[in-house]
Amino acid sequence: MNSISSSKSINLSGNLSIPGDKSISHRSLIIGSLVSGRIEINNLLESEDVIATAEALKILGVKINKLNDKWEVFGNGIGNFFGSNYTLNMGNSGTGARLLMGLVAGSDVEATFIGDESLSKRPMKRVTAPLKKTGAIILGQADNLPIKIRGSKIPLPIKYQSPISSAQVKSSILLAGLSSLGNTTIIEPSLSRDHTERMLKFFGANISTYELNDMSWEITLEGIPELKPLNLSIPADPSSAAFPIVSAIITPNSKIKVENVCVNELRTGLYKTLIEMGANIQIFNKKEISGEMVADITASSSSLKGITVPKSRAASMIDEYPILSIAATRAIGKTVMEGVEELRYKETDRIKTVCEGLQKIGIVTRETKDSLIIEGKGPKAKIIGNVEIDSNLDHRIAMSFLCLGLITEKAIIVRNTDTINSSFPFFMQKMNEIGANLNLI
Ligand code: S3P
Repeated sequence: MNSISSSKSINLSGNLSIPGDKSISHRSLIIGSLVSGRIEINNLLESEDVIATAEALKILGVKINKLNDKWEVFGNGIGNFFGSNYTLNMGNSGTGARLLMGLVAGSDVEATFIGDESLSKRPMKRVTAPLKKTGAIILGQADNLPIKIRGSKIPLPIKYQSPISSAQVKSSILLAGLSSLGNTTIIEPSLSRDHTERMLKFFGANISTYELNDMSWEITLEGIPELKPLNLSIPADPSSAAFPIVSAIITPNSKIKVENVCVNELRTGLYKTLIEMGANIQIFNKKEISGEMVADITASSSSLKGITVPKSRAASMIDEYPILSIAATRAIGKTVMEGVEELRYKETDRIKTVCEGLQKIGIVTRETKDSLIIEGKGPKAKIIGNVEIDSNLDHRIAMSFLCLGLITEKAIIVRNTDTINSSFPFFMQKMNEIGANLNLI
C-alpha cells in the first residue's frame, strides 16, 4: 500500500485534463450492454471502479473491448441475460454494485455480489428492498455484501417511494424495470443525478420526470424500450475536477483551467457553493454532448467566506463535501453543511473522517447526525500540518487531505492512497503537472 506526502505549493497553473465522469462511465457500460448492437464509448473513465463494472458485465456474457482510445460494447438487448452461479466482484464500487443488482434483478440470472472491506460495510437494503418488490429473490443477508440475487426474466412493474434521494437506488430500480412489461415509477424526495434517465432517453427509451405538489419528484419509465446503438462521449468528472479547482482557490497565485466538464445541474452544487463563498470560478463554452451539458471551468486564488449550505443542495454535491470542507478551513467564519446524513454511508462515514482529520491539524469542527460545521481559520492563518491521515479505503478522503497539504506549513502524509485509483487515475501526476508538490513515499 502506497502513501503520498503533500507539501506547501504556490502558483498552481495550466490546463488540466480530467478523466471521464465515473457515474456516466458505469452507466455507459451497463446501459450499453442492453442496447441492440455495438456502441463505441469515448473517454471512458479507466478507474478501478469502472473496470470492476466492465469485468462483471463480461462475466455476465457481454462482449466489451478496449480499442486504441475508445471502448466498444456489444449490447445483448434487453432481457437477454441468462445463467447462474456468477460471482461479481465489485471491489470498492457502490455504484457498480447497486446498479448491477438492478440489472440482475430484471434478468433470468442468479449472481452473488462481493466487494472489498469498505463496500462490504455499506448498506444495500436500500436497493434490495425495492428490487424484491419486482419479484427478485434476495438470498443471504439483505443489507451487506455478499448478497446473492435471483432475478426474474419478467420483473413486475413497481411504483416505489424512496425514503432517500439516491441516484443509485433510482437507477437500480430503473434498470430492473427495463425488462418489465409495464411502467416503473420511482418517487424521490429531491431529484438526484439523472444520468441514467438522460442516457436511456438518448438511446430511445420513454422516460418522464415530474415535480409533484410536495416538491418530491416522480420518474416513470416505459418497460421494454428499444434501445438504439449510438456512440457515446463521456465528459470530464466534476467530482474529480473539484480537487484541482479547490486547490487553485486555496493556493496563492494560482489559476487553472479544466475543459469539457460535466455541468449537469444535478452535479454542480459544489461550484454554486464555492461561488457563493466568494471563489473566482468561471464556467463557459457550454454545449451538449451525448445528452449531457459540458463546459470549461477556470478557477483562481480566492478569499472565501463561510456560508450555510442548505439541505436542498446536498444531492447535487454529495461527493464534494470532503473537498468543500478543505476549502472551508480557509474561509472567514464558519461553514455549515446541512442535511448531509448520507455522507455517513459512503466509502467511509465522511462526516466522521473529515472531522477527525481536520481536528488533527487544529481545525475546530462540530458534527450532528446530519450536519457538519467547520470553523474557518481565514486565508492568512498558518496551519501547521505535519500529520498522517489514513485513507480508510476512501478515495475522496485521500485526495481531499492531499489538497489540504498544499497550504499547510509542514507536509501532510496520506496513508493507503492506492484507493485514489477507484475514481481518479494519475491524480498525483496531474496535480504535479499544475505545480502541486505531491510525492510518493
Ligand atoms: C452515484 C450516486 C451517488 C454518489 C456516488 C455515485 C451514481 O450515490 O455518491 O458516488 O453514480 O449514481 P447515492 O446515489 O447513494 O447518493
